[in-house]
Amino acid sequence: MKAMAVVGARPNFMKAAPVIEALRKYTGVEVKLVHTGQHYDRKMSALFFEELGMPRPDLDLQVGSASHGEQTGQILIRLEPVLTHERPDVVLVFGDVNSTVAAALCAAKLGIVVAHVEAGLRSFDRTMPEELNRIVTDHLSDVLFTTEPSADKNLLGEGISSDKICQVGNAMVDSLLKHRERAKTCRFRETLGLNRSSYAVLTLHRPSNVDVPEVFEEILQAVIELSQDLPIVFPCHPRTRQHFARITERLGFQWSEGGRERGGRFIVMEPLGYLEFLSLQAEARLILTDSGGIQEESMVLGVPCLTLRDNTERPITLQHGNNVLVGHSRSRILTEARRVLGLPSEPARAPKLWDGKAGERIAAILSSLRGPNPHRPV
Ligand code: UD1
Repeated sequence: MKAMAVVGARPNFMKAAPVIEALRKYTGVEVKLVHTGQHYDRKMSALFFEELGMPRPDLDLQVGSASHGEQTGQILIRLEPVLTHERPDVVLVFGDVNSTVAAALCAAKLGIVVAHVEAGLRSFDRTMPEELNRIVTDHLSDVLFTTEPSADKNLLGEGISSDKICQVGNAMVDSLLKHRERAKTCRFRETLGLNRSSYAVLTLHRPSNVDVPEVFEEILQAVIELSQDLPIVFPCHPRTRQHFARITERLGFQWSEGGRERGGRFIVMEPLGYLEFLSLQAEARLILTDSGGIQEESMVLGVPCLTLRDNTERPITLQHGNNVLVGHSRSRILTEARRVLGLPSEPARAPKLWDGKAGERIAAILSSLRGPNPHRPV
């Protein structure tokens, strides 16, 4: 059996690593890895491969940054000859980025089985590019690996056959559990002079939050005010940085290489590697984020999370964990943050299948695939 995993953007790497590792243990299974090049900065890509112990990609399509249509189109154009030549039995795609939907479409058009890791999540907000990517990818996929019960329900509600759906747990959590101890040893917070459970971590990159200057400015005002209560560390995504530079002067900031501190309490920095971020996140008092994956990681780490969005495609983090949706209003962010900071810490709680074995379950199912379009494991 020949599997081809296609990755492209930062949140793909921690989901793909455990699946590739587990698949490689099967004799008779060949795994090839293609990187689309959607993310290409060392800190957004190569560093993650090194830290996660991933094999080097067999091929890098080097698509780079472009508009959504062009990026997706370029992946189709560059991946099609690769799939035609390699003829894998299954193409594995991860999450909800442009690389995911492009690879799924390319493979499905060539009649190759598509397996989607992290299928079925829905925010029900079609203004999010990721939501469109999720819907299209799921409807092109033959095997849909889900992380939480809501995903199965969403897929069934959209008419996808239960034969195709396999709830396997969360491959991203496999990576977290595997690397957690190693991350502890890097003690990243100490390099910033911060004590355990005495600071917050902020991440922001959703177009709806950072591409609209008024929205981004309102969030930053809340965060700067909150940084008087506790220091806030902000590893800044490249797309956010582009917008940040434009509004920081009005907020009394100037971007400089290596980041800049404001009174030592709002610490803005370049994106962090996987281990540094994990160590920072694990010892934080509070997370503020608009990321999908960080909501789940916070739940497993037992760190309260405020999600700076009006919706989440990961409702399990609201029901099961300590995630609260706060949108982008300054007053709501401050009120909720202060409320959460006044509560005692709660123990971490992980859903049943988030046990570090999702990659193994996925590999076991894939290794048993037979025939051209099985829809389900034998
Ligand atoms: C992408 C994903 C998003 C994911 C996020 C995590 C889509 C639609 N979005 O968003 O789901 O949560 O990655 O990081 O696929 N850039 C760099 N260096 C890089 C990569 C990007 O400078 O290595 C800059 C480019 O200027 C680019 C911008 O960041 O224009 C946005 O990058 P892009 O890959 O289009 O989407 P993200 O916002 O990173």
